[in-house]
Amino acid sequence: MSDLPKVAGTSPVKVELEEGKKYAYCTCGLSSNQPFCDGQHKGSGFNPIVFTAEANQTIPMCMCKLTENAPRCDGKHKCLSEPDTTSLQ
Ligand code: FES
Repeated sequence: MSDLPKVAGTSPVKVELEEGKKYAYCTCGLSSNQPFCDGQHKGSGFNPIVFTAEANQTIPMCMCKLTENAPRCDGKHKCLSEPDTTSLQ
């Protein structure tokens, strides 16, 4: 298994959180229920980050899985290279 998580998306997704509710943020990128864990991480070496929302709020959640401020986006997705389409022109 790779040491790096799978990139689930190249931009963050805004998620509405409910105060006091517990969430499990997917860190492996394999979940079909992004950005939340669905158990697909088993055997990958990754584990979800479980957190309780402190308020009713909408936050940008990381989809590239490179953030250092999980589950929030910290802008790391901007480092991902864009697909090279120059050969198609
Ligand atoms: S499915 Fe990715 S951490 Fe659980």
